[in-house]
Amino acid sequence: MASTEVRGLGHSVERKEDARFIRGRGNYVDDVVLPGMLHMELLRSPYAHARIKSIDTSAASALPGVVAVVTGELMAQHNLAWMPTLSGDTQAVLATDKVRFQGQEVAAVIAEDPYVAKDALELIEVDYEPLQPVTTPQQSLAEGAPLIRDDKEGQADNHVYHWEAGDKDATEKAFAEADKVVELDTFYPRCHPSPLECCGCVADVNPATGKATIYMTSQAPHAHRTLFAIVAGLPEQNIRIISPDIGGGFGNKVPIYPGYVIATAASLLIGRPVKWIEDRTGNLISTGFARDYHMHGELAIKDGKFTGLRVKMLSDQGAFYADAQPTKFRAGLFHIVTGSYDIPAAHVETDGAYTNKAPGGVAYRCSFRVTEASYLIERLVQTAAYELGVDPADLRKSNFIKPEQFPYLSATGFEYDSGDYDAAMDLCLEKLGYKELRAEQAKARDEGRLLGIGLASFTEVVGAGPRHTYDIAGLAMFDSAELRIHPTGKAILKLGVKSQGQGHETTFAQIVAEELGIPPEDVEVQEGDTDNTPYGLGTYASRSTPTAGAATAVISRKLRDKAKAIAAHLLECSEDDLEWNAPRFTVKGAPDRGVSIQDTAFAAYTNLPDGMEAGLEGVTYYDPPNMTFPFGTYAVVVEIDRGTGAWKPVRVVAVDDCGVRINPMIVEGQIHGGLTEGYAIAAMELIDFDEDGNCIGSNFMDYLIPTAWETPHFELGETVTPSPHHPIGAKGVGESATVGSPAAYVNAIVDALAHAGVRNLEMPVTPDKVWAALNEVGLAQ
Ligand code: CDP
Repeated sequence: MASTEVRGLGHSVERKEDARFIRGRGNYVDDVVLPGMLHMELLRSPYAHARIKSIDTSAASALPGVVAVVTGELMAQHNLAWMPTLSGDTQAVLATDKVRFQGQEVAAVIAEDPYVAKDALELIEVDYEPLQPVTTPQQSLAEGAPLIRDDKEGQADNHVYHWEAGDKDATEKAFAEADKVVELDTFYPRCHPSPLECCGCVADVNPATGKATIYMTSQAPHAHRTLFAIVAGLPEQNIRIISPDIGGGFGNKVPIYPGYVIATAASLLIGRPVKWIEDRTGNLISTGFARDYHMHGELAIKDGKFTGLRVKMLSDQGAFYADAQPTKFRAGLFHIVTGSYDIPAAHVETDGAYTNKAPGGVAYRCSFRVTEASYLIERLVQTAAYELGVDPADLRKSNFIKPEQFPYLSATGFEYDSGDYDAAMDLCLEKLGYKELRAEQAKARDEGRLLGIGLASFTEVVGAGPRHTYDIAGLAMFDSAELRIHPTGKAILKLGVKSQGQGHETTFAQIVAEELGIPPEDVEVQEGDTDNTPYGLGTYASRSTPTAGAATAVISRKLRDKAKAIAAHLLECSEDDLEWNAPRFTVKGAPDRGVSIQDTAFAAYTNLPDGMEAGLEGVTYYDPPNMTFPFGTYAVVVEIDRGTGAWKPVRVVAVDDCGVRINPMIVEGQIHGGLTEGYAIAAMELIDFDEDGNCIGSNFMDYLIPTAWETPHFELGETVTPSPHHPIGAKGVGESATVGSPAAYVNAIVDALAHAGVRNLEMPVTPDKVWAALNEVGLAQ
């Protein structure tokens, strides 16, 4: 381990990036102002499903200050009216034939000023012929449902895909032999990542050079550049994507949205930079929704052991199938659905359906549908505990995968790298005072108060991926790190991932500090500029630490090897005589004789051994051998008001294991954020639609996000089970708490009512739903 002064792994180094953020000196896309820049606003459809009969843009075009009005017809002339999605479907950039969801992009105005552009939108006349909208997958798959994707050749219904995993026969056998079968039907509702900063770009296509520089809210700039090159037919070396500071992504900034494409096409045609900044309503109604999964789970149990799991799932894909996910997993990584349990047989079936709702299916702070899977199994296990009449903690413990079973091959094909689920749960229960709380719960009940204790012991799968199995739009998933050490021993680390607030500038510098003994403040971390960073697949799904973090350790070690050869030259000894005592190479048995890493860096440019190339720099592309599997146990205690149905989390205890922690403070910050988002999803966040397909949840009055006032107090704990295949033993952590916690909150509410027979409440568990349940079981006051 690096010396304390160097502050490598395990040190809560203050976030370097905060120096500019807290001074208001961040540089976000909307801060980019270029000479001659124009502004773009989008006209969106008021209908969920309607044929476009005509679009009259003459009045808008005549408004002083308007430079151009772009329609689907104009885009079609350039073969850009449609674009591919990340899951191999097509999506309208600007509608030509019909609109398929409320908020779909219909036209764009480019003007000298954003207010003129907005005014001009009102002058565009669109003649719509309303069609019957379809807003649930059940309606959409019913006979006689209107065909949403009549643009697709051979598409006769609204079915998108059918996908299966696991062993059907073995699972059926387990069910046939079970002494108990427990079922749960539940719905993980549509919600939205709603980052603080909405999406946007400044597209600057230089008419003289043809170079397109696109400043963009992109979680995956390299992948986006390649997709731009393929879709627009631009030479890739002429495209430069720059993701400056990003105000939160949570998966919302993984897809390519029509706004980016139209702004770039407009800049290309007009020859001036074009800025598009999405407003909040545009963000909530048209970009990257998450979840919307209807799930049915069945657990087979024999002698108290889980023996089989059967899952059927129906997902609402919206009008265009646009999930970001590896192509080999059509329903994403939902097959982590066996969770933390040793379930020998499982079979999962998933179907997707088109509806007249916005596309997206983004993995909101999770890896490709892991959250839904984790929610289902953790709710199902709690239901099983009630049906068996056993304590939910005991039932979990008697079915956990045990430490000696790792690496563990799950029934749906994942090889879990490492884990100690009992240890995490024991610590959580101890911190909570579980036994005493159960006694308090019984006492409270006697006094007429409703207290509930909910647990969730999640296992996650993060860090895509091994490139043979994981890809995005066909691009194999690996990641990269380029490290340059300057003569004075200061370094620049360039990465293929892109922080949206996770603190990469600090933590990745700490990995270099650990491996090379160069203090974090001497290592500048650069990300997000495709011309100046090595190729990588970007940041989402907690993949940065498992991939780019590993790449950083690997390249640091390679440079340390070269530095050692230089040190031997400087000390006039053999490399074999040297040992590494960060930050110095010292002669074995003579610790006073040595040179620092900084000395070797200077020598790399001034005093090299014969035949050695100058410089101390290199790049590496890291293909992880496996995903990493962080885990933990969360416990939530709620109290329910019998008079109103309002519930309040009174305790939230979270024990996480993400392997070796690089920066404990940053990890805890990630967990706080995730627990808050989990609470939000469980309690209040919902993108809903009325029967006409009008989006309810299109602003922060209707789409509720918690403020500091509602956010519970969190008590954290940790266990450390290193990943055996990661160079520094780290696993990803960014999304753990968003994945694991919704089930804990809901389990707690249900637990408060379970004695009266309540088994399920659907998220968001609003007071009116609880109030209805209280009335149904006779507990209302
Ligand atoms: O890909 P993303 O950055 O969203 O997720 P992550 O890899 O889980 O990392 C989130 C933040 O936590 C980064 O700053 C990591 O370096 C840090 N982290 C850590 O300090 N220790 C870990 N074991 C995992 C992540």
